[in-house]
Amino acid sequence: MKIKGKNTGSEQFVIVTGENVFTELDKFLRDFNIHPVRTFILVDENTRHHCLPVLLSRSEFLKNSEIIEIPSGEKNKSIGTAIQLWNALMTRHADRHSLLINLGGGVISDLGGFIASTFQRGIPYINLPTTLMGQVDAAIGGKTGLNFSDIKNQIGTFYNPKAVFVHTGFLKTLHKGQIANGFAEVIKYALIEDAILWKKLENLRRNDRFFKIPSNDLSWEELVDRSINIKYDIIEKDFHEQNLRKLLNFGHTFGHALEALSMKNPDHGLDHGHAIAMGIILESYLSFKKAGLTHEDLTSIVTFILSNYEYFPIEDSSSGNLIEFMAHDKKNRDQKICFTLLQRPGKAIIDQWCDNEMIHYALKYYHQLENQTELHENSYRKKG
Ligand SMILES: NC(=O)c1ccc[n+]([C@@H]2O[C@H](COP(=O)([O-])OP(=O)(O)OC[C@H]3O[C@@H](n4cnc5c(N)ncnc54)[C@H](O)[C@@H]3O)[C@@H](O)[C@H]2O)c1
Repeated sequence: MKIKGKNTGSEQFVIVTGENVFTELDKFLRDFNIHPVRTFILVDENTRHHCLPVLLSRSEFLKNSEIIEIPSGEKNKSIGTAIQLWNALMTRHADRHSLLINLGGGVISDLGGFIASTFQRGIPYINLPTTLMGQVDAAIGGKTGLNFSDIKNQIGTFYNPKAVFVHTGFLKTLHKGQIANGFAEVIKYALIEDAILWKKLENLRRNDRFFKIPSNDLSWEELVDRSINIKYDIIEKDFHEQNLRKLLNFGHTFGHALEALSMKNPDHGLDHGHAIAMGIILESYLSFKKAGLTHEDLTSIVTFILSNYEYFPIEDSSSGNLIEFMAHDKKNRDQKICFTLLQRPGKAIIDQWCDNEMIHYALKYYHQLENQTELHENSYRKKG
């Protein structure tokens, strides 16, 4: 698949997936006249080990690149690491024509994109995402950033890469938890835009093959292509998140609040994708109460999520904190907590205001699910 788009300026950018991705990468570098300009590849220790050898063995143009490594992990998406990276580029005499290649998951593409957008007022960069989260979400859409003062993505820019090259072969070395993490975004895409993909995901569950792709009717390529297409179509119409881009927020209002709440207690840390999966349950309930989602669809979504993700208990006493977090969401309007909700699988609507009473009902519904053990017997954590 090849998508050609325009940046907010007039420059072109491309997203390429599929078997010929490395050939396309080299072609792109040649046509783009970037070679022999200096290239820097940003990695962490895991992508240096698993992905860099693949890239260097398959790309002619990147063989002489300089490698910059940072330690893996969300805690390194920080201003401290950004300072190290600015220094690393300066001491290596990078200039405005240098090209930064982000080879890694969402941490690498968020941070690398931020560095590219700020170094000497902006240098070109390319994303080569290596996690499912990176491939279906973080590498696409031009949101860059870092965490600051314990708040996720508090500092950042909108700055599109020149290109994104997606090699699903990189997913082979991810462990199941990392696949589950990105899969929550795939579930979201299916629910907001693609009823056919949702049916295929449901079939995986019925056959107990949730993370076991390829299956008879779904490959990694199809899953990643479909997700990228959905995200791309939305952001093309609304790069700066004035309206339509809020569709992508389904599951994220509760999800981000749960993630933030769990960060306060390091013993109960919640991965981003796991938080979004729980957010999808809560926001599907709101969709049932407010947006016309049928009870049957609600049950089907909840069963799907809890068959594959461990239920995350929310203490009664945390409700106030959760609402507080949600009240500070950047996407609210007129100080009202706004959600993206489902009318049915494949069709979502934005700017749905829910009052605190409704939010408490959703939490009450969620609490009741904890005891319905038949729903979560198969979650991936329990299978190990
Ligand atoms: N900008 C956006 O639009 C956007 C969207 C979604 C998420 N994000 C951000 O993305 C980040 C999460 O991304 P993530 O889930 O990719 O996490 P991550 O980047 O931390 O990667 C997860 C782990 O997988 C390792 N890894 C990466 N590729 C690998 C491979 N092929 N084989 C083996 N190990 C590999 C990494 O070293 C890391 O330890 C968060 O900071 C989140 O805020 C940004």
